[in-house]
Amino acid sequence: MAKARSTYVCQSCGAVAPRWAGRCDACGQWNTIVEEAPEQPLAASGGARLPKGRGRELHPLAGEATPPPRITCGIAELDRVTGGGFVPGSALLIGGDPGIGKSTLMLQALAALAGQGRRVVYVSGEEGLDQIRLRAQRLGVLDAPVLLAADTNVADIVATLERERPDVVVIDSLQTLWTPVVESAPGTVSQLRAGAEALVRLAKKSGAVVLLIGHVTKEGQIAGPRVVEHMVDAVLYFEGDRGHQYRILRAAKNRFGATDEIGVFEMRGRGLVEVENPSLLFMGDSQASVAGAAVFAGMEGRRPLLVELQALAVPTTFATPRRAVVGWDSARLAMILAVLEARAGVRLGQHDVYLNVGGGMRVREPAADLAAAAALISSLSGQPLPAGTVLFGEVALSGRVRAAPQAEQRLREAAKLGFSLALVAEETQVPKGLAMKVRPLADVAALAALLLQGGGGGAAAP
Ligand code: TYD
Ligand code: MG
Repeated sequence: MAKARSTYVCQSCGAVAPRWAGRCDACGQWNTIVEEAPEQPLAASGGARLPKGRGRELHPLAGEATPPPRITCGIAELDRVTGGGFVPGSALLIGGDPGIGKSTLMLQALAALAGQGRRVVYVSGEEGLDQIRLRAQRLGVLDAPVLLAADTNVADIVATLERERPDVVVIDSLQTLWTPVVESAPGTVSQLRAGAEALVRLAKKSGAVVLLIGHVTKEGQIAGPRVVEHMVDAVLYFEGDRGHQYRILRAAKNRFGATDEIGVFEMRGRGLVEVENPSLLFMGDSQASVAGAAVFAGMEGRRPLLVELQALAVPTTFATPRRAVVGWDSARLAMILAVLEARAGVRLGQHDVYLNVGGGMRVREPAADLAAAAALISSLSGQPLPAGTVLFGEVALSGRVRAAPQAEQRLREAAKLGFSLALVAEETQVPKGLAMKVRPLADVAALAALLLQGGGGGAAAP
């Protein structure tokens, strides 16, 4: 029989290649391919025969469905994102950049659960017991009856948990797990998969909630992401900018709840604090109106969130002008610049352009286009937007402004926060009795005309 050959697995997308290469053909990432020992599933031996199975009974679709029981930890922002609490017997993946606060959030959650009399275990392969205790001291939860283990061997972890039978367990982190029967190094796709598999099985069998912490690479993927994401019941990402204190917990997948919920936290000196009313967090200090600043009435999941977009256009000294973006998509900036030039005659070809989203927030919605366009026009002209203005709407290549979803919620929130004028797409449904002026715009040319017609008062004209 031929000797089992090593396989070469991309640590970013999980694709298998026959030989090592500097760049993965499947996802295009560099230096992500790692040699791994071969796995021995049924199919690998060229068709080991499947044993004969038994025909099973089928069930009608119609029938009673009882909602699953829930374990709430009392940190409302976390309970919200999980869909109303952890479901016993489920496994969750908590992903995020190193240093963003995953260990902090999980330790706070465990301490809260322990305080309710739940049996909880924190397994760390990253930090020693002393380090965990120091963090607990900082968080002021040293008295909570959380049980600790510093372990990386999956077999030992499973044996310990089978004996202790906790209600909730945190594994910090997936990347440190090590299964003795898998030959690859810790952190590789096969180790990650084997470790996650064993722990997901433990969750199903014992009814414990298993929270798996996973580090994300710069591109927003957990090493070996595909192989772990499909195994777990929910995937929560903890996002934010380490230079800023705000963090957003977002569900990317949830078998027991909606994925459009977010939880907002603030990292303070004594841990993460919930932010119950986040709509104004990402506003920067835009009390005074400055040229180049525009407020986008955004939505994060089901929650309205006002975000300040800041643009700066300065005459360039380079042959190719610079474009730099923080918190937004640079391809989208290029598109808006082209549309402004072609459809509204706003020329930024001789300017370096910088665009920044306030508060370390990342904006993904296309509806932010109109606010970005307004910030750019205002920066070029040096005229601030009329005070108290918010904007939302997608900009098409034709220059047309398209309506954005959930307009009513965006408008109501902005009005509630004291904004007095909304610039929106023509088809936008305006709710009755709204305490603010709404001005529909057909295209970016109309936006430019409005902003350039002179002074802040101009917006009031019909
Ligand atoms: P941590 O939870 O260790 O991040 P992760 O597990 O995602 O890698 O948090 C790391 C950062 O959070 C660290 O740089 C310090 C900061 N921090 C605070 O600001 N306040 C606190 O109370 C704690 C515990 C951490
Ligand atoms: Mg950590």
